[in-house]
Amino acid sequence: MRSMRIGLLTGGGDAPGLNAVIRAVTKSLIHQCGAEVLGIEDGALGLIERRVRTLGWQDVSGIGALGGTLLGTSNRVSPLSYQGRDWRDDIVAYARELRLDGLVAIGGDGTMAIADALDRHGLRTVGVPKTIDNDIAHVERSLGFDTAVATVTEALDRVQTTGQSHGRVMLVETMGRNAGWLALEAGLAASADIILLPEIDHEIEAIVAVCRERAARQRFTVVCVAEGAKPRGGQLTVQAVEAGRPEPVRLGGVAEVLVSQLQPLLQSEVRATVLGHVQRGGAPSPGDRVLGTLVGNAAARLVREGAWGHMVSLEQGRIGQVPLTAVAGRTRTVPADHPMLQCARAIGVSFGEA
Ligand code: F6P
Repeated sequence: MRSMRIGLLTGGGDAPGLNAVIRAVTKSLIHQCGAEVLGIEDGALGLIERRVRTLGWQDVSGIGALGGTLLGTSNRVSPLSYQGRDWRDDIVAYARELRLDGLVAIGGDGTMAIADALDRHGLRTVGVPKTIDNDIAHVERSLGFDTAVATVTEALDRVQTTGQSHGRVMLVETMGRNAGWLALEAGLAASADIILLPEIDHEIEAIVAVCRERAARQRFTVVCVAEGAKPRGGQLTVQAVEAGRPEPVRLGGVAEVLVSQLQPLLQSEVRATVLGHVQRGGAPSPGDRVLGTLVGNAAARLVREGAWGHMVSLEQGRIGQVPLTAVAGRTRTVPADHPMLQCARAIGVSFGEA
C-alpha cells in the first residue's frame, strides 16, 4: 500500500509559531504513519502557481524557534477570485496530479474560509488556526497571540518611561483588525491607563478628562489603542483599500488621528507610536512554540483519523476539533461582559467611555 501524501501550507499574515506547526505536522505524519509531506509555497498562491517542495524530517528539524514561515505565505490571494476567476477546479486537478490525499492549511479566518471552500470542492482539508488577532471562532488563544502580547507589553513598558520623564501622553497603536484582544491583554499587562478597543466606541472628552486628571497627579498617561478603535458615531481609520484582496480594507493610523484631536485640548505633549509588523515578527514565545507543537500534532491526528473538513480548536483549555463551516466567515471579538474588561474597569482603567 502506498504511503499517505499530504500537502501543507501557511496562509494569511505571518505569526510567530508557524514553523513550530510545520515541524510538528511533518514530524507527526512521518513518525506515526510514514506519510509524505509536500510543502506548498506562499499559501494559496502556491496551489495556483503550482509551487511545491517535499518536506522531509531534516527540512523541518531545528525550525521550532524561528519566526515567520519556512513555506512563505500570502494574504492577498483567494483561489475563489484570483485574477478575476475561480481557481478551485484547477487546484483540485493539481492536487490529483500530485496524488495528494489531503491538505493541512495553517492560517487565520480568511485561510479557514478558503480551506472550507476547497474541502467542499473536493480537496479534503484540515485547518490549523493562527493569528495575533486572536479572533478565530472556537479558539480561545490562537497561535502567535502570546508572542504578540509580549511584544506589545514591552513596547508599552518602554514608552511609559518616556511618558514619565517628559510628562507626556503616550499612545501606542496595536494591530488586531476588528478585535481588541491584543490591545486589551497587553494594555492590562503593561498597566495602560486608557485602552481603546474596536468593541467599545470612545469619546474624546472622556479621554481628555483622564489625561488632565493624570497630568495633575502623575504627569503621564499611557494609552493602548487598537487599530480598529473608533469614536462614538465615527468611522474606522483606514490606511488603504486594496481591491482584489480577500480583506481589502487595511486599518491603521487611528493613533495619529487621536493625537490631532487630543493635542489642542491638552497641555501635555501627545505622541503616537505605531507598532506595525514588529508585532508579527521575531521568535515565538515558549508558549507559542508549545502551542504550535500541540496544534500541529492534533492536525496530524485529524488527518490520520480522516476528520477532513475540520479545524483544530482550543476551548476551555482543551484541544479539540470543529467543522470548518462553523469557523468560516465568523470572527471572535471581546464580549461586553468579558472578565478582563470588568477587572480593568474595577481597577480604574478607562476605555474612553463617557
Ligand atoms: O490579521 C493579522 C494582521 O496583522 C492584522 O492585525 C492587521 O490588520 C493585518 O494583518 C495587516 O496585514 P498586512 O500585513 O497585509 O498589512
